[in-house]
Amino acid sequence: MAKAKATSFFCKECGYESPKWLGQCPGCRQWNTFVEELTAKKEPAAKRGLGASYGNGQGGAGEGGLSKIKPSYLSEISLDEQDRMQTGYEELDRVLGGGVVRGSLVLVGGDPGIGKSTLLLQVCRNLAASGQKVLYISGEESLKQIKLRANRIGTVTGELKFLCETNLDTIEGAISGEKPDVVIIDSIQTMFREEVTSAPGSVGQVRESTNLLLQIAKGVGIAIFIVGHVTKEGVVAGPRVLEHMVDTVLYFEGDRSASYRIIRGVKNRFGSTNEIGVFEMRESGLEEVKNPSEYMLSGRPEDASGAVVACSLEGTRPVLLEVQALITPTLFGMPRRTAAGTDYNRVNVLMAVLEKRCHYELSRYDAYVNIAGGLRMNEPALDLAIVMAVISSLKDKPVNPRTIIFGEVGLAGEVRAVPMAEQRVNEAKKLGFETCILPKTSLDKMRKMEGIRMVGVENIREAISLL
Ligand code: TYD
Ligand code: MG
Repeated sequence: MAKAKATSFFCKECGYESPKWLGQCPGCRQWNTFVEELTAKKEPAAKRGLGASYGNGQGGAGEGGLSKIKPSYLSEISLDEQDRMQTGYEELDRVLGGGVVRGSLVLVGGDPGIGKSTLLLQVCRNLAASGQKVLYISGEESLKQIKLRANRIGTVTGELKFLCETNLDTIEGAISGEKPDVVIIDSIQTMFREEVTSAPGSVGQVRESTNLLLQIAKGVGIAIFIVGHVTKEGVVAGPRVLEHMVDTVLYFEGDRSASYRIIRGVKNRFGSTNEIGVFEMRESGLEEVKNPSEYMLSGRPEDASGAVVACSLEGTRPVLLEVQALITPTLFGMPRRTAAGTDYNRVNVLMAVLEKRCHYELSRYDAYVNIAGGLRMNEPALDLAIVMAVISSLKDKPVNPRTIIFGEVGLAGEVRAVPMAEQRVNEAKKLGFETCILPKTSLDKMRKMEGIRMVGVENIREAISLL
């Protein structure tokens, strides 16, 4: 019997489904996001027993039906430490919250060519070397291409197998035949399910494919990494629901022209989300950068005006970085402002605070603010460093290169306390900084520290007078 052609409309942003086209999505209130896609009759989700396999199958409903449902006490749930597998990269393990959790679904997003496949291949190599069974499924590259890449990253040992396939129903069969511990799906946009009639990469396909992978991961307890391409707007292509469905969302980012890469957790059901891991792309694959501060500050110009070293907190880890500002007289009536690597509006607010509270006529100057190295940092603790960099450039007076500055700046020009000041100062001390300018309120709460001179400031005028 021929299937009736059924179509539905899906929101590209949130995956909202509607039988007819809508201008505005009732789900996420975005305009013009509906696309028409072919759908086929789906079997009801309940039949597959999705809930059954969550949490190691404890207290779940099996195929046996509703009568078997038995809720559990917390005390009955065992927390096996072995549920986490080490990837061999401390930088990645920390972002994952201490390793890969069995039965978890991890989405790795990033621009094309940034190194997602390379990273995952290296992770596979490490996992296989530590005795895990790994299956790498590529829908993008041929086995030969994978072999060429594998040759670059070094020797591969252990149970690591490769498969080139895009049909998820076939993949499901392969997984149940191989019974691996870890599966890589490179990339979700190339995968398709036969029962969904729309093209691979479409909203419906991506959603249904992820759904199937979710069931496999939870059902059999396999950790699955899904590679997802990122659109120009910087979100994983396909519906937002993709991010809601998986346990962990990691973004692999970095300037393709620069060699370092950052892996950032944006969602994590098994750990904190603010962590970053830093890697460097070399001839022979990615290498961990264990001390990012040192890395970020390398090649820094000493004695240049407008350059200030600040300390931003990424998760549990302080990272030193250089804030640069360039202030030049404006040629037209409208001053130009740009901010690279930090929040544009924040920079505008800080310039306004300087105008109002310290009476600098910044509206006559163009301002370019940049976080050196291409990092993106939005922490308020960078405020004071931005202010100081702007003034340093305006007066053409360099800030002592052995000084580190951090603190949040309020609209009244006051310098406010920031969390974990002690860790920041410690990081600066480790790298040989001699002076630290920080909020007075933070300084008052800190223990005495040897080897670094600390100057507490209450407002930006005080800080500027130290220049
Ligand atoms: P790739 O992992 O294919 O990116 P993605 O899967 O995110 O699209 O990375 C490809 C880039 O990495 C490519 O431009 C070449 C570079 N590269 C190296 O510099 N060194 C290496 O050892 C490898 C394997 C790749
Ligand atoms: Mg790839």
